[in-house]
Amino acid sequence: MRFLVTGGAGFIGSNCVEYLLDQGHQVRVMDNLSTGKMENLKEFIAKIEFMQASVEDTVAVKEAVQDIDYIIHLAAIPSVQYSVEEPLKANESMITATLTLFKAAVDIGSVKRIVQAASAAAYGDGPELPKRETMLPEPLSPYAAAKLGQEYYGSTFSKVYGLEVTSLRFFNVYGPKQDPRSPYSGVISIFISRMLAKGKPTVFGDGSNTRDFVYVGDVVAGIYQACLAEWTGQSEVINIGTGQQTSLNTLLATINDLLEGNIAAIYTKPRTGDILHSYADISKAQRLLAFQPKLGIREGLEKLIAFVKLTEA
Ligand SMILES: NC(=O)c1ccc[n+]([C@@H]2O[C@H](COP(=O)([O-])OP(=O)(O)OC[C@H]3O[C@@H](n4cnc5c(N)ncnc54)[C@H](O)[C@@H]3O)[C@@H](O)[C@H]2O)c1
Repeated sequence: MRFLVTGGAGFIGSNCVEYLLDQGHQVRVMDNLSTGKMENLKEFIAKIEFMQASVEDTVAVKEAVQDIDYIIHLAAIPSVQYSVEEPLKANESMITATLTLFKAAVDIGSVKRIVQAASAAAYGDGPELPKRETMLPEPLSPYAAAKLGQEYYGSTFSKVYGLEVTSLRFFNVYGPKQDPRSPYSGVISIFISRMLAKGKPTVFGDGSNTRDFVYVGDVVAGIYQACLAEWTGQSEVINIGTGQQTSLNTLLATINDLLEGNIAAIYTKPRTGDILHSYADISKAQRLLAFQPKLGIREGLEKLIAFVKLTEA
């Protein structure tokens, strides 16, 4: 089958492309390289079709959806902090891009389904845990509002135009190819890269905040399952996490343990829009996608540290 992966030169995107190639599919990547890198695709660049263009570009998107069966839509500037500083640009990278893509898919009429990246940020900071898809969303940042907007456009396009759209609310994804040099990157890659260099990681808050850290290999398996799962007739919103809660302090202790180090963090004030606690109820993903994360946090960190040591050696 033929897949279009938007944001395919990014962290989750490049892992997704590799997974699809392993399953024997044809892959086209559309990426404007704003946060993604060609380096992420270099091992399999000869096997894919690469388009350097923005998903906001109507003409390029029209071309990108030609002959495509499934679209995996991951392109976005994925940062709460960036969206607070640049809400208009953040909106373009999520809402404008998504609408452009959905409209092109409706116009061509042959796309079987779009699976898009939504975010656990949609849940906000309510005390109720774990986070279930039926909870009332409470976006606390322009990023969260835009991601939620993508979901709403998904269900609207499904109802109005019959487009199949599944939105996956990713929790905190980590793993190989997450860029530790980006200020917008995930906390795990930043911690590991700093601690491998014997530097102190910075924690915003007192480190008691918790997250549901999910390994990228499990996430891409979930994305693939969401493409092929039987259509329920509705544009579903589905959590993708592990169902496990890990505090930043536990994370630091586990990384120290695996690196046989004893590096203390620098604690500083919490950032605007950051949420305190979050972990997923994954029963819907288990029911609709047969989703089952394989790696726990320690095993995932072990795998990631081995990858970072190998690539930085
Ligand atoms: N990493 C996480 O923990 C996490 C959690 C929740 C949701 N998400 C979502 O998953 C998706 C992928 O995130 P990631 O962590 O791989 O980030 P990433 O920055 O590594 O990947 C995003 C990719 O999209 C590309 N891009 C951005 N704007 C574009 C545009 N207008 N046109 C074409 N390409 C564009 C970037 O160049 C990059 O390659 C994003 O939509 C993000 O919001 C990620």
